[in-house]
Amino acid sequence: MLARMAPLLVRKRRALAPHFPVGGPVAPEDLVGREPYIRRTASRLEDGEHLLVAGPRRIGKTSVMLEVLRRLRRKGAVTAYVDCLGATDLRGLGERLAASLLTSLEGHEGGLEDARAIAAGMRPHGRIRVEHLELVMPIVREPSAQRAFDAALDLPRSIAARAGRRVVVAFDEFQAAGRLGPRVFDVMRARFQAQRGVAYAFLGSEEGIIHELFSAKGKALYRFAVAHDLAEAGGHRFGIDPSDWQTYLRRKFAQKRMTIGEAEVDRVVDLTGGHPQDTMQLCAALYHFMQDQALRAVTAQLVDAAFEIALRELERPFTLHWSDLGEKKYLQAVAKRIARGEPLYAARPDGDVPRAEVLRAVTALRARGLVVRTGRGRYEYLEPMLAEHVRRLDAVPAIVLGR
Ligand SMILES: Nc1ncnc2c1ncn2[C@@H]1O[C@H](COP(=O)(O)OP(=O)(O)OP(=O)(O)O)[C@@H](O)[C@H]1O
Ligand SMILES: [Mg+2]
Repeated sequence: MLARMAPLLVRKRRALAPHFPVGGPVAPEDLVGREPYIRRTASRLEDGEHLLVAGPRRIGKTSVMLEVLRRLRRKGAVTAYVDCLGATDLRGLGERLAASLLTSLEGHEGGLEDARAIAAGMRPHGRIRVEHLELVMPIVREPSAQRAFDAALDLPRSIAARAGRRVVVAFDEFQAAGRLGPRVFDVMRARFQAQRGVAYAFLGSEEGIIHELFSAKGKALYRFAVAHDLAEAGGHRFGIDPSDWQTYLRRKFAQKRMTIGEAEVDRVVDLTGGHPQDTMQLCAALYHFMQDQALRAVTAQLVDAAFEIALRELERPFTLHWSDLGEKKYLQAVAKRIARGEPLYAARPDGDVPRAEVLRAVTALRARGLVVRTGRGRYEYLEPMLAEHVRRLDAVPAIVLGR
């Protein structure tokens, strides 16, 4: 019965997901152009290598890792996914790790709550296997938060040893763990170092911070994990081959009995620079617009109209980025020059920025993952749509000019 229902549930879930998903992690069928990266990542982790997946915001780090873990589970590994941003203290972080490992072992959620209930002398909601209960009891019973955290960090190793299975743990937004206590990373390193049968993946979006954590001498995780670049995979921008967008977008529009030609897909990818979330956002806008107007064939004009809609939708996050830059002197001024493609050092009527300050600002913009270096003294925005937003900041709206 259940077996017959499963495909139905999957179909139902798909029907509920937006046609072009934007926001959280996406399902494997909407993960464009990541197949080679997913395969390589899975095989390296399976091999026991520790990986560092750092990259700009919204390029699919989490989606990719969830799919990697799914495949590793299918091949018999025990996996855990821990979002460090979600934890408010050390015990919480440790418990997240334990809960996720239990889910993988038991094949359903709720194992940790059951262990907690049993520790408190109450009846568990579900059923947790005795051998798994034994594993997590020392964590849920431990009164000291630090020791509970230490015990949780040992859990992957105990599971690998007991079950004789490869254990793979992914820490997402790993840099956030540093806020939970002093020397968190030192403790982690000490625990992780000698764990046989366990592979770790560290994901993070604050590129500068996470790279510093792993490669600056004297840092706790110095050379512990190998950087495995997602943003540049295969030499493509954002690591995605533009031909994969072609295949994906044709298929997605065709599913709704709409057509999109090669030139129009190229136009979409040109406008967004192939940035994964911006591209999906533009396509979502395009699709809704066509649906509202009962249109069937995508044209260049429709792509341009969708670009304007998507740009408006992105105004909020872009405005936040921008006000964030206002907290430091010269950042906005230099960010504007880069957006307009103006010389960075030239004296300008709106107040000159000293050379050292320009350099400092560029470094800060790069560390935030907003701009990338394209050549000597040349920089551009990672997201062309953000550049367009910045270019328009000072523009007088056409309506005011009476056009
Ligand atoms: N390969 C991809 N194909 C299609 N869309 C993608 C892809 N990668 C990312 N996206 C888009 O970006 C959004 C965010 O994806 P995801 O959360 O996996 O990225 P992330 O890098 O983990 O983001 P964050 O920096 O916020 O943690 C998705 O909802 C989707 O719209
Ligand atoms: Mg993420």
